[in-house]
Amino acid sequence: MESLKGKKVFITGVTSGIGRSCVYAFAKEGADLLISARRKSLVDEIADDIRKKFNINVYSFQLDVIKRKDVDNAVKSLPAEWKRIDILINNAGMGRGMVKFYEDNPDGWEEMIDTNIKGLLNVTNAIIHQMIERKDGHIINIGSIAGHEAYPRGAVYCATKHAVAAITKSLRMDVMDKNIRISTIDPGLVQTGFSKVRFYGDEEKANAVYKGYTPLSPDDIADAVIYIATRPKHVNIAQMVVFPTAQASSIHVHKES
Ligand SMILES: NC(=O)c1ccc[n+]([C@@H]2O[C@H](COP(=O)([O-])OP(=O)(O)OC[C@H]3O[C@@H](n4cnc5c(N)ncnc54)[C@H](OP(=O)(O)O)[C@@H]3O)[C@@H](O)[C@H]2O)c1
Repeated sequence: MESLKGKKVFITGVTSGIGRSCVYAFAKEGADLLISARRKSLVDEIADDIRKKFNINVYSFQLDVIKRKDVDNAVKSLPAEWKRIDILINNAGMGRGMVKFYEDNPDGWEEMIDTNIKGLLNVTNAIIHQMIERKDGHIINIGSIAGHEAYPRGAVYCATKHAVAAITKSLRMDVMDKNIRISTIDPGLVQTGFSKVRFYGDEEKANAVYKGYTPLSPDDIADAVIYIATRPKHVNIAQMVVFPTAQASSIHVHKES
């Protein structure tokens, strides 16, 4: 097992759910953290908390992954001691709406495509060059089972996660001679803020997604991310699919009424 102590880990979308759990999991392992999301005050709160609880260095900043120039500038203007990034966790992502394609709101399509595809590309591109120069690095994408199997009422979200799967596979081929690991972890149902965002703030609909079975917690996924990040350097966990026990595919979930 590789130690994460002192490793510089850059995580997007840390103010909630899987990103937030990853922050605490990596902090516990002694990694130094570059943490970001759009809600800067929440990012700073998390930064203060982990500085107090764990003896690590933290660099917190606001980042909207959709804005390519901002992403480039944020990475370019990192202080010298933060320029070498060992691990990137591309976590920021979202769903909008869960209705039939022909009833859907195209504004939501734009948000999902911009965040889940372009955002991941923007951050990856801003960071991968220094990994290539050093011939060292690890990028872990948070994909989804929706990137393996499309499901009804999810055309565009599923398309964005299929895109993440394709980018992950192709990028792995492009950097296999650069000693850079490219991994994806593809969860099923995880209880996070995801459904509330997807249903435009409707808590009742969001809570119903997780009723009748035990969903994954964001800590379960952070645990799997740590496993991927701590394998020996010659081992790349290319893809990991994680379901709650009551889920068997993107459309099969056993719910007790
Ligand atoms: N929950 C699930 O069942 C599930 C299953 C499979 C895959 N996933 C994937 O897991 C990842 C994390 O989602 P989650 O479930 O943890 O949802 P979440 O609780 O809603 O967290 C999403 C995080 O992404 C950030 N974010 C959203 N848009 C952003 C943007 N434009 N720029 C920067 N940060 C942005 C949010 O922070 P701000 O609002 O502060 O920017 C938030 O911290 C996503 O890629 C999602 O697709 C989730």
